[in-house]
Amino acid sequence: MKNKQIIKRMTLIEKALLLSGKDTFHTTDFKKYGIPSLCLSDGPHGLRKQLGASDHLGLNESIKATCFPTAATIANSWDDALAERVGECLGEEAKSLGVHVILGPGLNIKRNPLCGRNFEYFSEDPYLSGKLAAAFIRGIQSKGVAACPKHYAVNSQELRRMSNDSVIDERTLREIYLYNFELAIKEGKAKFLMTSYNRVNGDYTNEHEHLLTNILYDEWQYEGVVVTDWGGSNSHVEGVRLGSHLEMPSTGLPGALELVEAVNNGVLSEEILDQRVDELLTIIFELSEDNSQREASILPNQVDRHHELAKEAARESIVLLKNDHQILPLKPKVKIAVVGDFAKTPRYQGAGSSAVNPTQLDSILSVMNHYDLEMTSFSKGYERGGKVNPSLVEEALKNVEAADVVLIFAGLDEISETEGAERGHMKMPRCQEALINEISAKHARVVVVLSSGSPVEMPWKDHVQGIVHGYLLGQAGAGAMMDALVGNHCPSGKLNESYPVNYGDTPSVNYYPGLEKTSEYREGIYVGYRYYETANIPVNFPFGYGLSYTTFEYSDLEVKDNNLTFKIKNTGNYDGAEIAQVYLSAPGKEVFRAKKELIAYEKVWLSKGEEKQITLTLSEKAFKYFNTKTNDWEIESGSHTILVGASVADIRLRVSKELLGTTSITPYDKEKMQCYFSADIKEVQDQAYQELLGFEIPNSKWDSSKPLELNDTISQMYYAKSWLARFVYKILTYLKNRSEKKGKPDLNILYIYNMPFRAIAKMMGGAVSMEMVESVLIMVNGHFFRGISRLNKAFWANRKVLKREKEYAE
Ligand code: BGC
Repeated sequence: MKNKQIIKRMTLIEKALLLSGKDTFHTTDFKKYGIPSLCLSDGPHGLRKQLGASDHLGLNESIKATCFPTAATIANSWDDALAERVGECLGEEAKSLGVHVILGPGLNIKRNPLCGRNFEYFSEDPYLSGKLAAAFIRGIQSKGVAACPKHYAVNSQELRRMSNDSVIDERTLREIYLYNFELAIKEGKAKFLMTSYNRVNGDYTNEHEHLLTNILYDEWQYEGVVVTDWGGSNSHVEGVRLGSHLEMPSTGLPGALELVEAVNNGVLSEEILDQRVDELLTIIFELSEDNSQREASILPNQVDRHHELAKEAARESIVLLKNDHQILPLKPKVKIAVVGDFAKTPRYQGAGSSAVNPTQLDSILSVMNHYDLEMTSFSKGYERGGKVNPSLVEEALKNVEAADVVLIFAGLDEISETEGAERGHMKMPRCQEALINEISAKHARVVVVLSSGSPVEMPWKDHVQGIVHGYLLGQAGAGAMMDALVGNHCPSGKLNESYPVNYGDTPSVNYYPGLEKTSEYREGIYVGYRYYETANIPVNFPFGYGLSYTTFEYSDLEVKDNNLTFKIKNTGNYDGAEIAQVYLSAPGKEVFRAKKELIAYEKVWLSKGEEKQITLTLSEKAFKYFNTKTNDWEIESGSHTILVGASVADIRLRVSKELLGTTSITPYDKEKMQCYFSADIKEVQDQAYQELLGFEIPNSKWDSSKPLELNDTISQMYYAKSWLARFVYKILTYLKNRSEKKGKPDLNILYIYNMPFRAIAKMMGGAVSMEMVESVLIMVNGHFFRGISRLNKAFWANRKVLKREKEYAE
């Protein structure tokens, strides 16, 4: 133990308090032992440090900080070096603000396009997600600040996120939902890790023996700290026992006393508690070594420099989806009509805990005068929130007449991309679709510029000549977009996810979101392109796709062991970058495999006519699958083809090599699991799913005849025995629906709606004890008088505990 001397002097309750946090975003300090407090702060694409009242949902204003493009955007750059540089800036700003731990990056797999938080995550592919996350982490941590990748693991749904159980087979878990974290931990060397709210196969992730003890610590040799998501702790005692350190936000003295009681009762050994304290102290001391920190603002010399990097990051992430008749780049002096509210008030980030208060916010209209174009008009075009306003369309139709080219700025409204809620569908607001249709029926030269952190259906795709996707470009995105539109920058971004034609095409369409107790991952490994490619489903735009103003030729692929080389030549008329992607096509005979799996990528910058040789080393896992029978990563014997291409669907070079398998034990009974071998996975029957899982499918239905329990959600009060509880449910539902109609997410209501009863105690800093919540539950379950009398007792008992808090204030 590194901190033995201090730990020896600390009392049991002090040690417990250290593991329970001090307030919403700080760890507990003990001046008498020289233990400082750490400040943790959101979020992935910029700092969200609050000076006044702090909350974990981004409700109250935070100090101004640079708002970089969100993870889903930067992922389109496929540029590890850029991600690392953004990470460095985040680290610098954290230092200036006195933040020790940045709660990000978020790297959950984008399992389904409707997840409200997809904009915060990198990709549908674990390799791309893990590599980019590792780069961010390296950047952040190079500045003496810790990164905290999140949310570990299988957290791809927002609905009832704090109680939902992800039911998933071990192979899918390892290959898809953990491989990204494995890369982030091993290559990024993250010092913190945030567990997710949900359960995985029955257990909460923060107290998950398999995820924590077996995989994180034993296999990956993790040496950092594990923190709960905010209010996500179920049993802190179990968490600490199995490797979690910190419960956040603080649960006050009542929370700490749970640990004390567990030690006194022999449920938790003091040795283990000491070990967690030691591990946490080690990182606390390491991170607080440099105390030259400020609190009030980021440094003046950071503001402009970071704005410029935010712009560069945005520029590198823009994806050109369609460019018929070379409508882009726009020629100098061309007459353009600008249509769309987003051009005036940009959609540049999502809602929730990641929301940053930007140091500056550029809009298309505010930067337009820097470009040599003749803007003939601006028309708002549509109302935010989807309300139909025909006069806006009429005005736009009139205005576009005088222009050579119409630029329509469209995409998803704020309500669609928020923490705590799924999108209801994959369409853009109807009023925006109608606007695009009407304008493109009238004008032949239309370019749609999209802003949305996740895919949308595009029924209007064939009616317009150009489509440029900005995703959510951050505070400096407008200039970056204009640079791409006029050709100051040659677009090079490629999609980090597939764009299905219709939502109905997505592999998890029938399983997502899990509506009651569980979320069944029946589609297994077939997430995103792994499905579309294997099952031959046409998409609007494939994974890894993105056009350029120039063209590239690939040649001379050679593979030797795990090393491959090939050449790329810029054969067009612009300088620009290409993102080359390497996929594996494995034999898939006895072990079903996706037709293509991303195993490497490289972004390369080439001037006109230039050719470069690319050399890549494949990772040790490149050819492997996870064998659930041997519990190991294995190779199947047979021909493995390495494919090099410009997207998953545009393969330019290939070479095959015969590999000898590493095991003769195959994990599957082909007969029973035919659907997985043919990727026919949209309606997986119980027998095949059960075979895949290797255990019985858990019951996913709520039993409304049973009383509600601590881990049931507030929204389940719709079947509560007490009429009062049902009434409260109705009010909450009304407030939720009202905010949805208004087009502005009410994060508080969403949080409460999806939160389990236990979280009332976990989120109140000790003001409400678990016993008080249990008493409320008794009332909810129809025993009002019993409940109220117990609540009364529990309230006074908790008051007594709270009075003692002052004793430990030092
Ligand atoms: C989110 C986390 C975030 C935390 C603190 C939670 O609701 O899920 O991603 O870091 O709040 O704000």
